[in-house]
Amino acid sequence: MYANSTQLSFLNIIKMDFTININNKNCKAQTGDTILEVINRNGLKVPTLCHLKDTMPTGACRMCVVEDVNSGKLITSCSFPANPGMRINTHSQRVVESRKTIIELLLSNHPDDCLYCVRNKNCELQDLSEEHHVRERRISGRKNREKLDLSSASIVRDPEKCILCGRCVTTCEDVMGVACIDFINRGNKAIIGTSFNEGLNTSSCINCGQCIMVCPTGALTEKNHFAEIQQAIEDPTKRVVVQYAPSISVSMAEELGMEAGKDINGILNAALRKVGFDNIFDSSFSADLTIMEESAELVSRIQNGGRLPLITSCCPGWVKYAEEFYPELISNLSSCKSPQQMLGAIIKSYYAEKEGLNPEDIYSVSIMPCTAKKFEAQREEMTQAGISDVDAVLTTRELTKFLKLY
Ligand code: SF4
Ligand code: SF4
Ligand code: SF4
Ligand code: FES
Repeated sequence: MYANSTQLSFLNIIKMDFTININNKNCKAQTGDTILEVINRNGLKVPTLCHLKDTMPTGACRMCVVEDVNSGKLITSCSFPANPGMRINTHSQRVVESRKTIIELLLSNHPDDCLYCVRNKNCELQDLSEEHHVRERRISGRKNREKLDLSSASIVRDPEKCILCGRCVTTCEDVMGVACIDFINRGNKAIIGTSFNEGLNTSSCINCGQCIMVCPTGALTEKNHFAEIQQAIEDPTKRVVVQYAPSISVSMAEELGMEAGKDINGILNAALRKVGFDNIFDSSFSADLTIMEESAELVSRIQNGGRLPLITSCCPGWVKYAEEFYPELISNLSSCKSPQQMLGAIIKSYYAEKEGLNPEDIYSVSIMPCTAKKFEAQREEMTQAGISDVDAVLTTRELTKFLKLY
């Protein structure tokens, strides 16, 4: 049950300041703080895996253990409240050994796949293993033998690389309000899956990709289309075109070693041309078209007594959410395509005609900030005479990887 505003202000009134001792240093704390919050506020660091800021702690991984010097117990700092007079040691030998053992246990049934893994050099499990000097497999467990789930248009699940931290479950349920994945089974049979452990495409997943963003390992990744795009670029009979959303050119700079937030659209255009795209389109153009079309639809609905309020249909994650959870709102959604799909349709109709091309000979790639756009591109409604408006979608993160190939 959530506290109401009166209860919250009461809690604020009774919040007390006190100190706890961490590594022989007195640190300020407040009623309601976890030990981890005090540790982080004071510039200290303990490793975490299952912890997700602003969500209820689950205490699933125990990576954040610290030593409560008064009781001599090891406690999980992410879920244990700070109390006046507490004395905490974040890096006693017991603590460090305990964390190392947890990592070794996680690795005991983990595939030795780092070199082939999409998260190689960007994996929290790998980093923790390195930081804790894990140099040999001391504990050998039964390997996870779960199949890859390739059923989703947006997301690949590799349960063999899952360390059961539960971050995806919390995010899907508490942040996105979808709850299409959860823990299944118990003990060493526990896995993360959908109802009846069927493919993600059979669930109410809205393809938002937020679970990928929080997954510490390679267990959840974007479904990528690098091979198909490269094949199209190599094919002399294909006109390969690309569109990108306005946010892409400002969100890529940091990944490419430039100043964060710098707009690199000139560099990006040059890079896309260099890797072989024949024409580059700006999705801002179709974003304007979408606004014009939606405005016209709003005026028409107001004048003709149509269903109101009119709700935008630009976000395919939101459209799927409405379809799954609020079907009664579907007729409130605008009938307009999203900017990605509008530009895709224009490219395969107006542009194809202008250039004297058969739409089948155009391979249209879209670069978007969200995995739900992959799902949208393959929806049946987004095809004309069996030809997709958009053939492949890359996320910003994938585009950076794609460009690094060249
Ligand atoms: S998830 Fe991390 S530890 Fe596991 S194979 Fe991939 S890179 Fe290696
Ligand atoms: S993509 Fe979104 S809806 Fe689907 S499982 Fe992940 S968090 Fe849940
Ligand atoms: S899929 Fe990723 S986020 Fe979800 S429990 Fe497994 S490791 Fe954690
Ligand atoms: S981070 Fe604290 S128990 Fe997992």
